[in-house]
Amino acid sequence: MLELIAKAEQTHELTKEEIVELLKSDTHNAELFAAADRVRAQYVGDEVHLRGLIEFSNICRQNCLYCGLRRDNTKIERYRLTPEQIIDFAAKAKNYGYKTVVLQSGEDAWFDVATMQHIIREIKALGMALTLSLGEKTREEYQAYKEAGADRYLLRIETTDRQLYEALDPGMSHENRKRCLRDLKELGFEVGTGCLVGLPGQTLASLAEDILFFKEIDADMIGVGPFIPNEDTPLRGEKGGTFTLSLKVMAITRLLMPDINIPATTAMETLDPNGRVIALKSGANVVMPNVTEGDYRRMYALYPGKICINDTPAHCRSCITGKISGIGRKVSQGHGYRQKKR
Ligand code: SAM
Ligand code: SF4
Ligand code: FES
Repeated sequence: MLELIAKAEQTHELTKEEIVELLKSDTHNAELFAAADRVRAQYVGDEVHLRGLIEFSNICRQNCLYCGLRRDNTKIERYRLTPEQIIDFAAKAKNYGYKTVVLQSGEDAWFDVATMQHIIREIKALGMALTLSLGEKTREEYQAYKEAGADRYLLRIETTDRQLYEALDPGMSHENRKRCLRDLKELGFEVGTGCLVGLPGQTLASLAEDILFFKEIDADMIGVGPFIPNEDTPLRGEKGGTFTLSLKVMAITRLLMPDINIPATTAMETLDPNGRVIALKSGANVVMPNVTEGDYRRMYALYPGKICINDTPAHCRSCITGKISGIGRKVSQGHGYRQKKR
């Protein structure tokens, strides 16, 4: 086990079988996390990049079995911010000191290309970096977002197991998800992807393949989080992912992709009250605090127990700054683009 960790730390390469070995045994987790922390420090330094997250619509045409925003969920109260509200939240995020905003939503067709271009241009005029996470679109739509100035795009592959993906995401094709990621790369976006850990039927071998897929497509950002079962979805009775396994997938990703950006995800903090700090000490270098205001935070209900639903953007900003300085790290003043070092 220690040999595998040393190999990963030095060469940034592991085979699928070696990754499975690491995932299988919990005897040397502390060493694994420490190695990921060293690689993080060496390649991306001690600064933590903050991205202000705006959850601007919970309306979705898709029906992913794990997600509370799925179209068949009638229990959820739906909302959609206006373009002016979105731009206003972005301007406020800038005032709180954020250098990047992330616009995330369900797949909501109300936001057509012209509307998105308007929002993107207004936010870029504020001098911020802009990440989009709007789901699957055509290449032409992605191109239009890029032309309007968007810098980055987050689209998790969720799982590289095609059969599992197509079972959990009815009506969606794994091929199209991969096509989206390819188009985004070719169009010059910084591309973020990632996976859910603990999906029903997911194996350790499949998680190993997820990690190798991230490397194969040379993703710029990887978000890993536990699947947390939602009462209002068909997966309500499932067990969900564990904090430790999610952290291990994240740490191995850091070892194999030393210079990328890796968020300490919100879902991790949902399972452990200190989850983001633990993740920051196990390979992560990014946090995405919520800058959505008011009741919308609660209504963007992917899974139960979501953190910060009753907090304000100002509170979250000072909370996370405190946590970051508490572990001897500091908040970056830059835009936090990936600096390729390998
Ligand atoms: N609709 C876009 C998409 O699917 O890419 C963006 C929004 S979607 C809500 C963002 C992410 O939430 C998904 O990629 C998925 O990994 C995560 N998610 C959804 N349901 C979840 C659950 N029950 N537990 C943990 N994460 C979940
Ligand atoms: Fe919609 Fe994204 Fe949730 Fe799937 S994961 S139902 S695409 S919001
Ligand atoms: Fe929201 Fe700590 S980041 S309360």
